[in-house]
Amino acid sequence: MVGGGIIGLVTAWRAARRGLRTAVVDPDPGGGAARVAAGMLAAVTELHYGEETLLGLNLASAARYPAFVAELEESTGHDVGYRACGTLAVALDADDRAHLRELHALQTRCGLSSEWLSGRECRRLEPMLAPGVRGGLRVDGDHQVDPRRLAAALLVACERAGVVFHRVLAERLTVVRDRARGVLLTDGEELTADQVVLAAGSLSGRLAGVPDEVLPPVRPVKGQVLRLRIPAAYAPFLSRTVRAVVRGSHVYLVPRANGELVVGATSEELGWDTTVTAGGVYELLRDAHELVPGITELPLTETLAGLRPASPDNAPLLGPSALPGLHLATGHYRNGVLLTPLTGDVMAELLTTGALPDEARPFTPRRFSTTPPVRQEQPA
Ligand code: GLY
Repeated sequence: MVGGGIIGLVTAWRAARRGLRTAVVDPDPGGGAARVAAGMLAAVTELHYGEETLLGLNLASAARYPAFVAELEESTGHDVGYRACGTLAVALDADDRAHLRELHALQTRCGLSSEWLSGRECRRLEPMLAPGVRGGLRVDGDHQVDPRRLAAALLVACERAGVVFHRVLAERLTVVRDRARGVLLTDGEELTADQVVLAAGSLSGRLAGVPDEVLPPVRPVKGQVLRLRIPAAYAPFLSRTVRAVVRGSHVYLVPRANGELVVGATSEELGWDTTVTAGGVYELLRDAHELVPGITELPLTETLAGLRPASPDNAPLLGPSALPGLHLATGHYRNGVLLTPLTGDVMAELLTTGALPDEARPFTPRRFSTTPPVRQEQPA
């Protein structure tokens, strides 16, 4: 496994549980985008036009969450902060309301469950909402998990399942006679493997040794996220995730059971930059304050930026690449946390049986391939 973020870890855990000898290469396993992510499981509220196939995958993974969490918590004794709290998407002005009405129509056409509420009904559910909220969509099926706890639990689950960790960078993929054969590590060690999974998030497109035609077309999309603390005297500040599109930018507030409030997120095409900027923090606080004015009373505890691994069609790349022996589990973009249970299951099935399950077939990396792989000879 090249990459020890939540996608690499869940794949390693599931594969090891099915009897495969598994190793993870990552200088900081359990880190990556999950350290930043808010952990919304937003299959319904983050639905977009033209992404109905992805919706099916997202819903399938959301449906697996309760059993996945129960198994992971039982295996590790770690609470992953799964909270079946639902989501309220609200509108602040006439344009927002029109946007939300369109989303509601799309959700209804897709057979999804969401309920239109007046501004007053929204405030009855969430009294901290601004008086100016003009309507909203109640989506009781979009929940949350704490990605940091999820990553920590997956790390423990992997260790208990016998996964070996190499806490260094992978320098290059080893290819012998047109087949992936392992990875060379930056400490000079060479690992050999019958199958290699590239699950390195936004870095997946940069591993040396992977033929150009096989490199996944993923790019980093920066997201800045804030963490605040809800003092006990203010609880319950919000009882569910609240989100909106304010002046074209998405903002969401995710209240955790432990009193943390996560506010996200910017979406910036700035390459590998992970600077937290005054402008990013200002825009998030400004938009969040318009939704929930009381937010300015809360202690601000953390600001962080991470990189979403985006693909050309916003959907993940799951399954065998055009280079035999190399599989991809990357490009999860805005849905990495949501797609964690399903990704682990389909990748473990592929690794143990050689067959990619039906639900993952529309997401095979080959949808982006135009030419067969270039032959690359390297010493074993
Ligand atoms: N899914 C939330 C985000 O990517 O910001």
